Amino acid sequence: MKTILSGIQPSGKITLGNYLGAIKNFVQLQNQADEDTNILVFIADLHAITVYQEPKHLRDSIKQLAAIYLACGLKREKTTLFIQSEVREHAEIGYLLQTMTYIGELERMTQYKDKMQKQTTGVSSALLTYPVLMAGDILLYNSDYVPVGEDQKQHLELSRNLAERFNSRYSDTFKVPEPLIQKVGARIMSLQDPTKKMSKSDPLEKASIFLLDEENVIRKKIASAVTDSDGLIKYDVQNKPGISNLMTIMSCISGLSLEGIEKVYNGLGYGVFKKDLADMLVEHLKPIQERYNEILNSKELDEILTEGAQKASYLASKTLSKMKRKMGIGRK
Ligand code: AQP
Repeated sequence: MKTILSGIQPSGKITLGNYLGAIKNFVQLQNQADEDTNILVFIADLHAITVYQEPKHLRDSIKQLAAIYLACGLKREKTTLFIQSEVREHAEIGYLLQTMTYIGELERMTQYKDKMQKQTTGVSSALLTYPVLMAGDILLYNSDYVPVGEDQKQHLELSRNLAERFNSRYSDTFKVPEPLIQKVGARIMSLQDPTKKMSKSDPLEKASIFLLDEENVIRKKIASAVTDSDGLIKYDVQNKPGISNLMTIMSCISGLSLEGIEKVYNGLGYGVFKKDLADMLVEHLKPIQERYNEILNSKELDEILTEGAQKASYLASKTLSKMKRKMGIGRK
């Protein structure tokens, strides 16, 4: 049995980066998976509260993310979809793993350092220990593969180290998980600063396309995306990060290769390219948005989440009991 696991934080509106870097990838994995593959996808609300979230807003975001997952193609029969905080073992394994994680390992994490820079006061200790909670998410289900965007590679490395550390300190317990990172789309950049990744928490609205953006908003954001002045549609991340980012988005949406895009738009200029990209995005996102609106307030959404939490809890409790036994805590 192989296990694939992935999660997204309900820490804001879901971006095209989250979709192309993660969601689209695991919908594909789900569709290709055989019966011997266990797929778990969760809404990482415990991760989201490492930064303060307004409670009502957070609760809405959790439900919206669940509906987005289903609208993007996750299927009840194939994927266990659940909310992280509804499976209490996540918080517990996070603590157990903290006891074997070194502070230096956490202080080195790029995401922690970036977030520390943005938020100079009131930084929670959970922001530092976030990657340990993430390792817990992964190890709790003895996951083989974790589809993520490139920004999560360093965190995945810690999960691998902790699995190995537990196995050598106690006895063979965990598989060592592997990241599944796509070749194209693993890092979608901000539309306003293409040297920075597109992020839910970016305060600049036009830096990101959100999955639920309306057609006219998508068109405006693409039209105002930062490019350069030479007008050549050429993939060159170093010297032409803006257009290279837009080409990556087009490639992910259309299936055209980057070289193919260069050929099609040879001599046509940014205006034509941007208009076509906006058309493609609008067409791609429309059915997702329609399904989202159907699902959001349905009874089925609640049923799927309840069923998912039950199934995940069953698996998680087995792992946690085994871990505690091996660590010598409790009575048996
Ligand atoms: N720009 C991106 N390009 C490709 N993949 C991305 N991911 C995030 N941004 C991009 C992938 O989306 C998944 C979910 O991410 P997350 O919610 O756990 O946290 P994150 O990586 O910190 O995402 P954000 O959007 O930047 O959220 P905030 O602003 O709240 O920190 C992961 O697989 C991630 O790789």
